[in-house]
Amino acid sequence: MLSLDNKIALITGSGRGIGKEIALTFAKAGALPVLCDVREELLQEARTEILQKTGKDSLAFVCDVANANQVEETVKKTLDTKGRIDILVNNAGVTRDQLLVMMSESDWDLVLSINLKSVFLFTKVVAKAMMKQRSGRIVNIASIIGIMGNAGQANYAASKGGVIALTKTTARELGKRGITANAIAPGFIQTAMTDKLKDEIKQELQSQIPLGRLGTPQDVANAALFLASDEAGYISGQVIQVCGGMLT
Ligand SMILES: NC(=O)c1ccc[n+]([C@@H]2O[C@H](COP(=O)([O-])OP(=O)(O)OC[C@H]3O[C@@H](n4cnc5c(N)ncnc54)[C@H](O)[C@@H]3O)[C@@H](O)[C@H]2O)c1
Repeated sequence: MLSLDNKIALITGSGRGIGKEIALTFAKAGALPVLCDVREELLQEARTEILQKTGKDSLAFVCDVANANQVEETVKKTLDTKGRIDILVNNAGVTRDQLLVMMSESDWDLVLSINLKSVFLFTKVVAKAMMKQRSGRIVNIASIIGIMGNAGQANYAASKGGVIALTKTTARELGKRGITANAIAPGFIQTAMTDKLKDEIKQELQSQIPLGRLGTPQDVANAALFLASDEAGYISGQVIQVCGGMLT
């Protein structure tokens, strides 16, 4: 069993879905999760669920990941309380799907801010603490759409492609300080984000998955656990696809 005993792990967008599952999985492995989400009611539910299932209390901060002041404040409060951050998972993300020629500038800006700028903001602040510690693990949740593109998702694909490029740069800049940075590119994972897709689109996507099923948040959390663990200490700048073989 991979252990994250006593590690402080900040996970963005952890009120529900993949982020919550990562927080729960990390708590089961011994970490103290620091939850962060823009929706306070989700945060409280996630905190309660983690406490009930693992006996571990979490820190929980309301934070809009696209807002630099709120990001700085969240990191500061975590460091003031716990003194260090061992693991950062940049998970928060949204979609605003539309064909390129119909896409509004505001939907472009929103998706790029929440999905990509947030990774820059959090990495910049947390990296300073990790550099002092001379250790750290950064795991960014990208998407296979950031590698292959997808009709109707120009903003999302560009943001996730950007996350992958930012991850590789982070790995190159921070490696000498004992910090690894990797990305996970999930395929089609069953969460609220994908529940809103039309049934025929879901069936069409599922037919393209060699393993014959949609992914679960746990499938993604397992990869995040590995990348955050000591066992992954020599892996950096990589993208692990968790997509049931959908993209090879
Ligand atoms: N579900 C999939 O199939 C899939 C596939 C590939 C990648 N991903 C990525 O995985 C990540 C998690 O997706 P999910 O499916 O769990 O989505 P989700 O919508 O279930 O959860 C996203 C969480 O992020 C939070 N969030 C949204 N905007 C925020 C903001 N500005 N500040 C802070 N928190 C914010 C939401 O409140 C929510 O709790 C996203 O980055 C998504 O792009 C998901």
